[in-house]
Amino acid sequence: MPHTIALIGGTGPEGRGLATRFAIAGHRVILGSRDAARGEEAGRELAVSLSRTNVDGGGNDHATAEADIVILVVPYAAHRATLEGLKPALAGKIVVDAVVPMVFDRGPRPVEVPAGSVAEEAAEILGDIAPVIGAFHNLSAEVLLDPAARVDADVLVTGGDAEAKQTVIALANEIAGARGVDAGPLRFSRFVEGITLLLAGINGRYKTHSGVRIAGLDH
Ligand SMILES: NC(=O)c1ccc[n+]([C@@H]2O[C@H](COP(=O)([O-])OP(=O)(O)OC[C@H]3O[C@@H](n4cnc5c(N)ncnc54)[C@H](OP(=O)(O)O)[C@@H]3O)[C@@H](O)[C@H]2O)c1
Repeated sequence: MPHTIALIGGTGPEGRGLATRFAIAGHRVILGSRDAARGEEAGRELAVSLSRTNVDGGGNDHATAEADIVILVVPYAAHRATLEGLKPALAGKIVVDAVVPMVFDRGPRPVEVPAGSVAEEAAEILGDIAPVIGAFHNLSAEVLLDPAARVDADVLVTGGDAEAKQTVIALANEIAGARGVDAGPLRFSRFVEGITLLLAGINGRYKTHSGVRIAGLDH
């Protein structure tokens, strides 16, 4: 079933990259921005570059209101304020958190998250108004942005709402070369988020865009 997917902070590379792949899979995607005009412009540019009509953009609030799946792709420093601002509009949506608590300071550095992980912080903020699922942290924007590039990576999906988690695993499976893997409850999100720091370090040393694969799964 086609979804309407909002990318909050979707003007950045990770949001545009995920939007590229979900648009190709046939979903309607909306690039959200703090500035509605910037979101609209980013949506127009992506629609033209992909020659597709299922891509547009606007304010983060507009994108959220239109969507059934809302993916957070803002810097961690903006995570809490962004979620608090959008909270009433997020009721009943599936909220997917792809935010990694890291900064670059002569290489990737972790940022302390009091809740244990960014995804758990989202769940604390939202309470029971919407299920929070952690996913897509380990996919490189550079690879996602090139529609011709095969992703060749697993998407580790965390969360407690079984139905929402299956929806997000199915979404991950629609990205060519990617495989959605149930990585357990939301409290395991800290490990998934942390992998991105390892990958960023490896990318710097090997001059590549690495990903993760879980061995031993037969699907
Ligand atoms: N880049 C990657 O390869 C990659 C891979 C995996 C995960 N991630 C994670 O995905 C998230 C987004 O990554 P990115 O590289 O796309 O990040 P980014 O370019 O730094 O930021 C994405 C967007 O967030 C919005 N934003 C920036 N500062 C903000 C603030 N103070 N308040 C509210 N919104 C703000 C901006 O959109 P507007 O100015 O238009 O509002 C910006 O275009 C990060 O948490 C990152 O760790 C990134």
